Amino acid sequence: MKVIVLENAAQIGEELGKFYVDFINENPSCVLGLATGATPVPTYNYITKAYADGKVSFKNVSTFNLDEYCDLPKDNKNSYYTFMFQNLFSHVDIDPANVGFLDGNVTDYDAESKRYAEAIKAKGGIDVQLLGIGHNGHIAFNEPADEFTDEAFRVTLSESTINANSIYFDDAPMPRYAMTMGIGSIMRSKKIVLVATGAGKAQAIKGMIEGEVTPQLPASILQNHDDVVVYLDKDAASLLTK
Ligand code: GLP
Repeated sequence: MKVIVLENAAQIGEELGKFYVDFINENPSCVLGLATGATPVPTYNYITKAYADGKVSFKNVSTFNLDEYCDLPKDNKNSYYTFMFQNLFSHVDIDPANVGFLDGNVTDYDAESKRYAEAIKAKGGIDVQLLGIGHNGHIAFNEPADEFTDEAFRVTLSESTINANSIYFDDAPMPRYAMTMGIGSIMRSKKIVLVATGAGKAQAIKGMIEGEVTPQLPASILQNHDDVVVYLDKDAASLLTK
């Protein structure tokens, strides 16, 4: 793992935003794995500004998002689908047909998992997967568990995740389930970029980088991938000793 520590979230947004602009310009038909949450927002802001300035085009880019809530309409203000259009897709020239999402409202979760795996495969796999990390070390919605998962599945969200994300659900109860890419799907990405900011992520980051590889801290599996770059601010890096 390559670890880059920068001063703050704004600096990470700029560095990583530049990385994406360059990557898309060099690989105009690339396949990006994208993440939601507060952490990637500065990066998305950098990219949308670069698009407005004519420095990048999403015309031939394809995307697959990591996860989506179950039992929440796609057009709900808190769906990850809405989040991605508000923060990125509505501001760039991406073809909506090239936007990949798990459907959290299906009844056959296995069929949905297979559909997503095949859609990713048909595009040649994910070139760069962007990740955040949960306070408990989850990536996408892969919660601490006894085993690492493989393809997408329906997950029961943990209390830690419900506590962290319920701030967004001010007028309705937060969903208890989500569809998420599995650990195997994430690990098959050619390159992985993980971002974490703030002291609240420091413990998970320490476990992910310096701890043992264990499904109890799902992000620790990234130690086994040969192209991972981790962007941290000083607070998220504060417990690292090596
Ligand atoms: C959410 C998402 C993850 C995200 C994480 C951290 O629950 N499913 O993909 O990385 O939690 O979110 P934030 O960046 O808001 O801290």
